[in-house]
Amino acid sequence: MGGFFCLRCKERLGAERINTLLEFLNRRVPPILIYKMTKIHFDVIGLGQCSLDFLGRVQAYPKLDQKAELNETLIQGGGPAATALVTLSRLGVSTTFLGRVGNDEHGVKIRDGLEAEGVDCRGLAVDQDGSSQVAFIVVDAAGHRTIFWHRGSARPLADRQVDVSLIAAASVLHLDGLQVEASLAAAQIAREHGVVTVLDGGTFRDGTAELLPLIDHLVVSEKFARQVGGDDLHDTLALLLQYGAKAVTITFGAQGSQTLLAGGSCFNMPAFPVDAIDTTGCGDVFHGAYIYGLLKNWPIPETVRFAAACAALKTRALGGRTAIPTLVETQAFLGKHRDLRPVFL
Ligand SMILES: Nc1ncnc2c1ncn2[C@@H]1O[C@H](COP(=O)(O)OP(=O)(O)OP(=O)(O)O)[C@@H](O)[C@H]1O
Ligand SMILES: [Mg+2]
Repeated sequence: MGGFFCLRCKERLGAERINTLLEFLNRRVPPILIYKMTKIHFDVIGLGQCSLDFLGRVQAYPKLDQKAELNETLIQGGGPAATALVTLSRLGVSTTFLGRVGNDEHGVKIRDGLEAEGVDCRGLAVDQDGSSQVAFIVVDAAGHRTIFWHRGSARPLADRQVDVSLIAAASVLHLDGLQVEASLAAAQIAREHGVVTVLDGGTFRDGTAELLPLIDHLVVSEKFARQVGGDDLHDTLALLLQYGAKAVTITFGAQGSQTLLAGGSCFNMPAFPVDAIDTTGCGDVFHGAYIYGLLKNWPIPETVRFAAACAALKTRALGGRTAIPTLVETQAFLGKHRDLRPVFL
């Protein structure tokens, strides 16, 4: 990755001055030319939500009005797009995150957590008058997580805050459906510049229907699938595929996932057997690893198998990010489970 240097003092320019310069250039110069001039390039851009997670492990989830001792606690950054980028970074991919935090201690921790993982944060804006998103997560002995969250009051990114040149130069744009206005703008830019788009559909919300026709790879939760379809899984996949994606996957936690490809083939990928300590962020990690397969041009069944392996390994420790595996760990794990493969229907 290159950078800008001041012509007078020869010092490397900080992120703020680079952003001002890019904003100026964005208005006057074609994005791809800016990329060629600056050589600022990230393989994957993630745009969406980031939060600070307060996690605790209990033996059993308490009944109403009871107390429970926490065996272990952890404070760690979270959020679907943000944690997907951490996954890619651990796998060795260059990433940058676009989102917004509030002007508070939590926002600082969110940024520090991403930067410590090698995720670039030049596009992580701070709302001076707002607060960051937080989540309180209780994990039981079986690894099930119960999440309470507060949206925070930081305003979502506006479409004009989306850096055209960064997106035009990337290979993949990953969205989590939050930050709707900016996501739509970013997906449109990605389409114009041939950048592959991926959507993590957690909940079908305002703006999702407009976003879907701009998505190449759609990976959604069971909740999202139930919101759009009925009980028949294949019908729901087919319905979602009609928006124009090349592949649609629905994930079902420990029950694995099912994928329908644009050509019509359909397969199940069972979840890998693990003694899960914490399933927080399994979906986020699945998405990050899925994007890794896209970058490698692997066939989709192999990509989904790799994603399922990374997500399973993630469950080894408390926190959405703690146990996200490296490439070597994932390959060794896949080697131990050679027989667990996609099952075509
Ligand atoms: N207990 C588990 N054991 C092994 N693999 C799991 C387990 N839970 C989830 N996974 C893997 O992670 C994938 C995604 O999980 P899940 O369907 O829970 O995502 P999600 O609904 O998007 O949740 P979230 O976004 O909150 O992490 C599953 O398809 C599976 O491959
Ligand atoms: Mg999810």
